[in-house]
Order: sequence, then C-alpha cells, then structure tokens
Amino acid sequence: MITFPRNSSHETHFKLPNGSHAPKLIQTLRGIWRPIKALESARERYGDIFISNFSTLPRQIIISSPQAIQEIFTADSKLFDSGSGNRLIEPFVGPNSVIVLDGDRHMQQRKLLMPTFHGERMRAYGQTICEITQEVINQWTIGQEFVARPQMQNISLQVILKTVFGLKQGERYQQIRQVLTAMLDSFDSPWKSSLLFFNFLQQDLGAWSPWGNFLRQRQRLDELVYQEIHERRIKAELEGEDILSLLMSSRDEQGQPMTDVELRDELMTMLFAGHETTAIALAWALYWIHYIPEVREKLLQELNSIDIKNANPTTIAQLPYLNAVCSETLRIYPVAFFSLPRILRDDMQFFGYDLPKGTYLSVCIYLTHHRPDIYPEPNQFRPERFLERQFSPYEFLPFGGGNRRCIGMAFAMFEMKLVLATILSRYSLQLLDSRPLLPVRRGLVFAPARGVHLAVKEQY
Ligand code: HEM
Repeated sequence: MITFPRNSSHETHFKLPNGSHAPKLIQTLRGIWRPIKALESARERYGDIFISNFSTLPRQIIISSPQAIQEIFTADSKLFDSGSGNRLIEPFVGPNSVIVLDGDRHMQQRKLLMPTFHGERMRAYGQTICEITQEVINQWTIGQEFVARPQMQNISLQVILKTVFGLKQGERYQQIRQVLTAMLDSFDSPWKSSLLFFNFLQQDLGAWSPWGNFLRQRQRLDELVYQEIHERRIKAELEGEDILSLLMSSRDEQGQPMTDVELRDELMTMLFAGHETTAIALAWALYWIHYIPEVREKLLQELNSIDIKNANPTTIAQLPYLNAVCSETLRIYPVAFFSLPRILRDDMQFFGYDLPKGTYLSVCIYLTHHRPDIYPEPNQFRPERFLERQFSPYEFLPFGGGNRRCIGMAFAMFEMKLVLATILSRYSLQLLDSRPLLPVRRGLVFAPARGVHLAVKEQY
C-alpha cells in the first residue's frame, strides 16, 4: 500500500485526503478545547483518513483504519522521521531525548533503554511499586476525600525517581518532586496548554508570566538533575539497579560515555513520559471501577481468589480481569489521543492518496479505539470485551506501535495493576461525583475533566 510516486514535487499534483477547510487557528482551538467532538465529526464527514491543520505543525493526515495503521507500524522505519516532529515536547526533554531523535541515534537509545523496562529487571521493581503505594495510602484516613490524579501521581513519580534515578528519600528527592509537579501543573488546563501550541505565547516576560515561570522551574529542575549526575560521577556509584547507573556505564560505538547533557535529556524524558501518563491512567481506572459497581465486585472477587497481601507481583500482573480492566481503561479514553507523528521522508502513495514529502501521518488512537466495527458500543466501559477476543496491535494501541512504540508499555501496565490491587485490597472507596466524566487536555495528554473525586469509606 505504500509506494513512491513519480518525481514531481509540485504541490498541485498531489492527491490529498479531504478535511476541514476551517482556518488553522479555528482547527487548533477546537483541537485544544473540544478534541473529541472535533475528531468524531471529522471522521463522520471525511472517513478513516482525513487531513487536519493543528498548531504550528505542518499538514497532518489523521488515520484511524487498522489496515492503514498496520502499513505505518510495519513499514521500513527509514521511510519516516518522527523525532523532528516532536518539537512541542522538546522544551521539557531537550534535544538529545530518544523522543526527539531520529535514525541511528534513535535506534541506539531505544536499544539502551528498552531492556530496563522489561523482563527480569522490570519485575524486580514490583516490590518497590507495592511498597511506595503502601506508603502513600497509609496516609489515607477513613472519611478522607481526595482527587485521584495527584495521589496517583505521588505514587508514579516516586516509582520513577526510585527506579530511574535510584533516588532515595531525602532533600533532593523532595525538591525534584516539588518542582516537577509544579512544572507539569503549568499545563493543567486547555487554556494553559495553549502555551505549548502557540509559539507567540512562549515569551519570557519575567517570573510571573506563564512561560517565564515554566522556564525558571525547568532551570531549577535542571540544576537538581545535574547535581545528582555530578554526585554520582564523583562517588562512582554505577553499580546500582537503577536506569541512571545503566546509562552512566554505557558506551557508544566509539567507546564514549554519555555526556551530562545527554544523561539529563534522557532522565527528563523518563520523568516526563513516564509518570504523569501512568497517573492519569490510574485515575481513570479508579473512576471506572467505582462508577460501575459490577466492575468493582468482579475485580474484588478475582483479587480475593489469591492471597493478595502476600502475592508475588508477577501473579497479580497475570490476573485476567485486572488486565481487562486496565486495557479497557486505556481503550475508552487513551491518555495519548495520537501516536507520535510519522513524517514522510519522500513523496509517497498511501491508500490511494499521493502525499508530499514532509506530510505528517498521525495515528489517532482515540478514533481507532472508538470504531464500532471493532468495539461494539464503543462508549460503554466493558472490560469483558478483552476476555472475549484478542485485538490486533493495529486495533488496540494505547502505547502506539512500530519503531516508536512506548518503551514504558510493559512497565506502565505492570505498575497500574500493582497499584490498583494494593489500593483495592486495603480500602473501600466511594466515588463522590457520579456524573459522567470526559477527558480534557492537560498539556499533550488527556486527563479526566473535573478530576476523579473519591472518599475513603472503610479499611480492610
Ligand atoms: C499509561 C502510561 C503510558 C502511556 C499511555 C504511554 C503512551 C505512549 C505513546 C502513545 C507513545 C507514542 C508511541 C508511538 O508513536 O507509536 C509513547 C512513547 C514513549 N513513551 Fe510512553 N506511555 C506511558 C508510559 C510510559 C512510561 C512509564 C515510560 C518510561 C518510563 C514511557 C516512555 C516513553 C518513551 C521514551 C517514548 C518515545 C519512544 C520513541 O520515540 O521511540 N512511557 N508512550
């Protein structure tokens, strides 16, 4: 389905998909404020492959057909760039991050990072995840009311700081937590998220201006991260199980170690990509589990079928209904609505269209997960669908796919299951606001609007 067309590079010779003719500004505002409505009505009007204009990005082709997604995820990775399209993320992660790299350097960094989030190494973190969860929920008291995401973020941030940085409780640990949380909160609404999408808003007008404040927080975080790197170099504590140790002892093909700046960028990538995403997914899971009483009952039945308090983390991670609940949570409102863009390195024929070099292909995870032909009654939360059939990686793709698939996929699923099992086997919670909840933009991801408000009813 993917072939290279003729030698022409003149715009008028290309056959592009249909899409809205609304001005870019209007399309961008809709994408920020009413993303679901904008996506669903575009798919209704133009089908599974349509064109969109968003933010400062070049023309994007939005794709939600499994056949087309398969073509993209299985294509030769040399056909596409991606990193150069992730400039919106660069203010957080820096220019040496795996997310903004392309080609050989991207592959090398992936190879380096992937093993740390899989297999034995990942399972070794299971105990840490359960302990951190226990510590956080030990603070909960009967009758206490709380909002799910900040509590879950407290857990997932500590998990990343321990597993990636090898940081133990202490002053620097607390400072990193505080600055990073404030930095992410700078984008905690559609309005504040606009900062990322409009270059002209990115002006440092002093500490009180939104962008100026963001830059100062980033600088403070950089100082803390560099302090940690320097201290580790002096102490030569490279033997730890954490990911920083692994990165510090790695050598490239010329035998060179990573520089401080490269280390900083990869650490920021893990912090940025790895904890808020998981926390949002956990907040949604708590919402659905308490919104639909039968889901909670079935889950408790399954958890009670094993000796949950003494169970091995791997046993918990293999529970089928718990897996189905986590999968359905990530299906119905995926944390990332889109994959990273795939940018054509040459003119290309794609599903009957002739696309010019430089076009962005964006796989729309949200729309694919809401196809009624794959997921009947797509707006219903029904974990059973994951027990009844297996979905292909082009039908169910909360972590994207192909050579850009999320490197934290297995880790995030593992963490979600352990955190949920630990909470549910300890407390009975109650959802305080039973109105339906929709996702709203929070920076580059989508989180529950209004927040998931819960109360602690009982302790077991
Ligand atoms: C529920 C939690 C998470 C979700 C929903 C999620 C989702 C995603 C998605 C959709 C992508 C883009 C994939 C593509 O374009 O095909 C991605 C990329 C990435 N994710 Fe995650 N992620 C999660 C957790 C994590 C964690 C825990 C880490 C690491 C600590 C992580 C690190 C990354 C990195 C480094 C990339 C870029 C990969 C590359 O460019 O090659 N993510 N993630």
